[in-house]
Amino acid sequence: MEAERVLLVTGGASGIGRASAQRLAKDGAAVMVADRDETGGVATVEEIAAAGGIARFTALDVSDEENVRASIAATLDAFGRLDGAINCAGVAQAAKQTHAIEASEWALTLAVNLTGMFHCIKHQIAAMLDQTGGGAIVAVSSAAAVKGLLNSADYCASKAGILGLVRGAAVDYAEQGIRINALLPGASDTPLAHRSSAANPALKGMLRVPMMRMSSPDEIAAAAVWLVSPDSSYVTGASICVDGGMTIA
Ligand SMILES: NC(=O)c1ccc[n+]([C@@H]2O[C@H](COP(=O)([O-])OP(=O)(O)OC[C@H]3O[C@@H](n4cnc5c(N)ncnc54)[C@H](O)[C@@H]3O)[C@@H](O)[C@H]2O)c1
Repeated sequence: MEAERVLLVTGGASGIGRASAQRLAKDGAAVMVADRDETGGVATVEEIAAAGGIARFTALDVSDEENVRASIAATLDAFGRLDGAINCAGVAQAAKQTHAIEASEWALTLAVNLTGMFHCIKHQIAAMLDQTGGGAIVAVSSAAAVKGLLNSADYCASKAGILGLVRGAAVDYAEQGIRINALLPGASDTPLAHRSSAANPALKGMLRVPMMRMSSPDEIAAAAVWLVSPDSSYVTGASICVDGGMTIA
């Protein structure tokens, strides 16, 4: 079976990335699942294959530029082109007030969430420039990019940085048909959210979500998949909140 479109999903071993990979495959795309977690990534691929879809796994640490370059090469080797990418890989570290965040903790959050996103977007664009037809890229940011999140200044800064990266890159490649957008989830029912709320219990009392619930990862994936589809063909440089109203409350 030959797929019409080839998509790469970073952070595809879990949560929003896994849900995105599954949705893309269900829609008929060939999907490269990339993650530093090989067990989870292979499980995503097996679930997609069991449902009749096309997927492969490649090991990836987004903070390592050579690793990112290799993940794009692996995608081109496996499937011949790259039509889009949904970049979900990210970390949220132990919750601390700003004055207690160690320089090493700050550096790690920024290395994965912001520099890692730069590495991914840079090399995904390069692959798209080498082919006809352009492409579409989603950078998963967070509602924390536009809202102060208690005990999380490193995370907020890394996710806000993504918005600037996306806007700058979007104007650079708009004429070449490469669209780049940021997606800002609110609280979504994933392992990361559960780890964060366990480490940061005060958060729960602070966040007001008008819809009064977390999203499923699939509700975030639905927006990500739309942003890499031709249905969003006039959308670039946008920051789209999918957060049950959290950022407007
Ligand atoms: N769940 C939420 O409430 C929420 C809210 C806003 C934003 N987000 C963002 O959504 C994205 C996905 O998060 P999730 O909730 O699905 O979390 P998750 O922990 O379920 O998935 C994150 C994935 O990223 C991978 N990853 C982490 N560091 C990596 C690295 N250096 N290189 C490659 N892969 C790496 C992990 O192995 C994991 O598979 C993250 O960027 C997160 O910040 C999540």
